[in-house]
Amino acid sequence: MKVKISAPGKLMLLGEHAVVYGWPCIVTTVDKRLYLEAELLKEKKLIIKAPSAGVRNYKKDLDKLCKNGGPEGGRFVERAVLNFQQKYSLSFGVKIETKNGFSIKYGFGSSAAVTVCTIKALAELSGKKLSNREIFDLSYKTILDVSGVGSGFDAAAAIYGGTLYFVTGGEKIEKISNGEIPLLVGYTGIKADTPTLVKMVAEKKKKDEELITRLFSEISFLVDKAKRAIAEKNWQRLGELMNYNQGYLEALGVNTQKLSNLIYSARNAGCYGAKLSGAGGGDCMIAIVDEKNRENAEKAIKKFAGEIIKVKTGTEGVRVEK
Ligand code: MEV
Repeated sequence: MKVKISAPGKLMLLGEHAVVYGWPCIVTTVDKRLYLEAELLKEKKLIIKAPSAGVRNYKKDLDKLCKNGGPEGGRFVERAVLNFQQKYSLSFGVKIETKNGFSIKYGFGSSAAVTVCTIKALAELSGKKLSNREIFDLSYKTILDVSGVGSGFDAAAAIYGGTLYFVTGGEKIEKISNGEIPLLVGYTGIKADTPTLVKMVAEKKKKDEELITRLFSEISFLVDKAKRAIAEKNWQRLGELMNYNQGYLEALGVNTQKLSNLIYSARNAGCYGAKLSGAGGGDCMIAIVDEKNRENAEKAIKKFAGEIIKVKTGTEGVRVEK
């Protein structure tokens, strides 16, 4: 028996970093998906083939999962299988093959997407009807087991799809919209190291507890306003709120010169607003753009060696492919 599952990548719209500490954020999904095929095996083994993550043909006995190391690119799948086995038991082995519809360098959340797909695939193969909430809880546990940090917003996006209002650990997961947001995405060419940036902000918070908490609180004020702007499709307002959010991210110290170059070129080319998206330090910037200014804004971003990534937003969450 075989199943094919897919889950979308994501982009953080507002609220990054604050969301690690109990505040809300807004995340949307993109039309670039990760695909995973899972095949039932009689042998009690896990086999992983994930070429885009550098894993060719990794084999492990089910009773030795996550023991004695393993390839970096297979850690989320292996941990997800172990966590599923411990929670629901597994009476069969499984071969898992992944195909990424987007490069892992963009920061679109391939680790969360592959974790979610693995858990959904195991549920399908073992005939268990897991709710989105159950898939989220096990995915979030897996992400924390492997990376040690994170709010879980990326797993929620991969599962629920659309544009979500999300509070740390899934305390709130609310769908704001299933529609498209007129987004422009520019990649800096630099891969961000999310855990390192999250730890850097944690250090700042330890040193300047009250100040950083105030910044987070201001960010959450913007997130709540942006939630309304998205529901009302008020793109100009959403852009303005993103500009404010960018100011706070600069204050947190996660902005870079390259991100700023792309952000200012987007703003100067007539975008309603622009900010970094995700942990900062690199990865992507996003802008809200009126269609009449899109071409100009794209050109301006390319001038600073930014790579334009064409995306449609608010796409469907995890699904079984025919
Ligand atoms: C990283 O894309 C976003 C952060 O808020 C971390 C997280 O929420 O897991 C920095």
